[in-house]
Amino acid sequence: MNYVPLRIKTVKPDIELTFDLYIYYKDHYLCYAEKGNLLTSKKLEKLINQNMADFFIPKDQIDNVTTFLDKALNEAVYGEGFSTEERVDAVSEVAANSIERMGENTNEANYKVAQRAAHGLRAVIKDNPNALKRLFGKKSEESDHIINHSINVCGFATKLAEHLKFKDDQINNIATAALMHDIGLTQIPIEDLPLFEKDYMEMTPEEKVRYGKHPKVSLDLLSGKDFISKEVEDLIINHEEDLTGQGPMKNKKLTPAQECLSLCNAFDKRLFTKKESPADAYKVFQLDYIGRYNLELIQRLETVLKEEGLL
Ligand SMILES: [Fe+2]
Ligand SMILES: [Fe+2]
Repeated sequence: MNYVPLRIKTVKPDIELTFDLYIYYKDHYLCYAEKGNLLTSKKLEKLINQNMADFFIPKDQIDNVTTFLDKALNEAVYGEGFSTEERVDAVSEVAANSIERMGENTNEANYKVAQRAAHGLRAVIKDNPNALKRLFGKKSEESDHIINHSINVCGFATKLAEHLKFKDDQINNIATAALMHDIGLTQIPIEDLPLFEKDYMEMTPEEKVRYGKHPKVSLDLLSGKDFISKEVEDLIINHEEDLTGQGPMKNKKLTPAQECLSLCNAFDKRLFTKKESPADAYKVFQLDYIGRYNLELIQRLETVLKEEGLL
């Protein structure tokens, strides 16, 4: 039997399961809770305490998982009585699942799940003051760094894009591209992964070449599929470029949307490669990143950070 992963934290206790939950233990898949039954809090906590990250669902039940994720997403965005923190956490979990699924298979069904998660994240960030603060304040496991970075960039870039009054379609494309921009990092050789934790400007020329391959790898996983738009592809391939032309593609002409995504990617990368707070990262941006990005865009970034209580 084939399985698809489902992050444990996505499943809430004491609700009727619409699919079987398996765990992977000592090289075997074991059924932990059956479809139609409840997963008790006690059983769920046991796994969380053991640092188990994923459930596994039989592949033939994947449509039920998709429905479950859509329901969780809908509740996070539109449900009544949730705090900003609960909305951000729930929408982030759905987004994280969608990135994992895209890492496994970039088919149309998984792409649509990721697209809906990206749009949902955009909505939660747009409608809830301080949501960005929650997103940036979330701690992540080392294994989740790439996923959390992608979610942060999605929330941040859509917020900046709303502020810049980009068209609705454009903001949705930025959201989708942001969530998937680094899926190429899941495919690069394992020995190159530590480069993700390193500042691009501090890499040796040889490290830059190795790291610089990932936007193309991300694009190759997605391109040639008619359900993915050219705009999304162009945003992904240019996410490490800036106006100096020193990015992997040596491109110095970016559209406003591409520049917005690239700036937010660079900003969030600073937060975790340098372990800086948004306020400290911004201090560096307003001095050292002039020339890499338009001054006006950097100033708009400041406005958004202030509005969100991050400066
Ligand atoms: Fe990247
Ligand atoms: Fe990135």
